[in-house]
Amino acid sequence: PGRTKVKELLASKELGSDFVVKGWVRTKRGNKSVVFIALNDGSTISNIQVVANPEEYSEEVLKLVTTGSCIRVSGTLVESPASGQPVEIHAKEIEVYGTADADTYPLQKKGHSLEFLREIAHLRPRTNTFGAVLRIRHAMAYGIHKYFNDKGFFYLHAPIITGSDAEGAGAMFQVTTLDLNNLPKTEEGSIDFAQDFFGKATNLTVSGQLEGELGALALSEVYTFGPTFRAENSNTPRHLAEFWMIEPEMAFFDIKDNMDLAEDFLKYLVRYALDNCMEDLEFLTKMYDAELIDRLKFVAESSFERLPYTTAIEILIASGQKFEYPVSWGLDLQSEHERYLVEKHFKRPVILTDYPRDIKAFYMKQNEDGKTVRAMDVLFPRIGEIIGGSQREENYDKLLGRIREMGIHEKDVWWYLETRKFGTAPHSGFGLGFERLVLFVTGMANIRDVIPFPRTPKNAEF
Ligand code: 4AD
Ligand code: MG
Repeated sequence: PGRTKVKELLASKELGSDFVVKGWVRTKRGNKSVVFIALNDGSTISNIQVVANPEEYSEEVLKLVTTGSCIRVSGTLVESPASGQPVEIHAKEIEVYGTADADTYPLQKKGHSLEFLREIAHLRPRTNTFGAVLRIRHAMAYGIHKYFNDKGFFYLHAPIITGSDAEGAGAMFQVTTLDLNNLPKTEEGSIDFAQDFFGKATNLTVSGQLEGELGALALSEVYTFGPTFRAENSNTPRHLAEFWMIEPEMAFFDIKDNMDLAEDFLKYLVRYALDNCMEDLEFLTKMYDAELIDRLKFVAESSFERLPYTTAIEILIASGQKFEYPVSWGLDLQSEHERYLVEKHFKRPVILTDYPRDIKAFYMKQNEDGKTVRAMDVLFPRIGEIIGGSQREENYDKLLGRIREMGIHEKDVWWYLETRKFGTAPHSGFGLGFERLVLFVTGMANIRDVIPFPRTPKNAEF
C-alpha cells in the first residue's frame, strides 16, 4: 500500500523523517501562504494535519483537494505547534486519487443528523461517529472470539438456510428459487416446495441454537456467531430484521453455570471496550452521551441482580407505575418493564429466571412446578433484554411432549430429538444480540446506527 496509517503517524517518534500518508480530506482551510488539510484514513478517530505551502503547488492540484476527496501526501513528520495534535506532516508532494465535487458531496463540514446519515449509509462510515462505532463493533467481535478461544470453546458455523424454526416465533423469511409467477401448487393449494431446490420449505435461520446444541453434545463447549433473521414487523430502536447473534452452548452447564458465564462474558466485553477503544468512547461520550464511560465502568464492576420472573412481576405491580402494557403474571415483559427493573428499581443489570412456560420456546427445561421453565434473560440499562437463554430440556419424553403440544412438526426436528435419545446430557446456552451489545457499548440510541447496513421493514436500500 506504500503508506503509513494515520494512527501510527500520530504515535510516531520519528520526527524529521519522510512518510507517505493516504486518506480522505475532512477539511481544508488557509490562505495564500499556507494551507491546512485535515486528513483521515479511518485507522483512528483523529486526523493528521497536512501543512502545504501553496507556492509549491500548481493551483490546479490544491483546488482539487476538497472535503471528501481522496489524496496521497508525501512529506516530513514534524512536531506540531498547534495544540491537540502531537505531530503534523509538511507536504512535499500531493497527488489527488479521487475528487469530490464540493457542491454535491453529501457530507459537509457541519454536523449531520443521524436520520440523514441513515439515508447515505454508503458514505456515513466516513464520519467521526460511524468511524468510531465501526471500530468499536470490530473490537467487540474480536473480543468475543478471544474470550471464547481463551476458554477453550470452539467456533461452530451454523447454517444460514434451515428447514427448522428454532424459536417457534413464526417470523421467518422463506427461501425459494421458485418462479413466483408460476408457482407449483400441492393438491391442497399451498406452494409445493417439494419441487423447489431443497425439495422442502426452507427459511433463513432465526437462531443457530439447535445446531449449537448438536455441537455442545460432541465438543462440550461451542459458540456460534453469525447473522440471524426475523421477519417481525417491529419498528423499534432495538429490533432489526437481520442481526448478528452469539450463541454459546455448553454441555454439563446448569442454569446457574449459564448465568455465571453470561455475566462474566458481558463484563469482559465491556472491560475490553474500555481497555481498547478509549479514544472512540471519549468521542461518543462527548458528542452523544455524557454518562457513557461511567456507565460502562459501572457495569464492568457491578454484580448483576438475579431473581425469578415471579418476583419481578410482584415488584412491578408493587411499584404502582403506569405501564403501557399492564402487569400480571404471564405477561411477556416489554422493554418498559425491563428498563424499570434495571434503571429504577435495582439500578444495575438484572438476570431474570424461571419464566412462564407459555411465553418461552419449546426447548427450555421444565421446572417441577409445571408452570415455569429454566429460562434466563439478562436485562441491561438503556437496552432491556440483551441476552436470552436457558437450560435445555434434555429428557426425550418431556421434549417430545412439548413439541407436540406446541404443534411443531416432528419431521422438521427429528435430528434434534435424536440427540436426546443418544447420549443426552444436561446442557445450557444463551444468545447475545450483537447489535444490542454494540448499542450499549457505544451509547447510541438506535440499533440502525450500530450496523453498517441495517435491514428493517421497508428498508433494504444499501
Ligand atoms: O431471546 P432470543 O430470541 O433467543 C434466542 O434466539 C435463543 N435461541 C438464544 C439461545 O438460547 N441460544 O434472542 C437472543 C438475543 C436477544 O436477547 C436480543 O439481544 C437479540 O438476540 N435479538 C435481537 N436483536 C436485534 N433485533 C432483533 N429483532 C432481535 N431479536 C433478538
Ligand atoms: Mg428473548
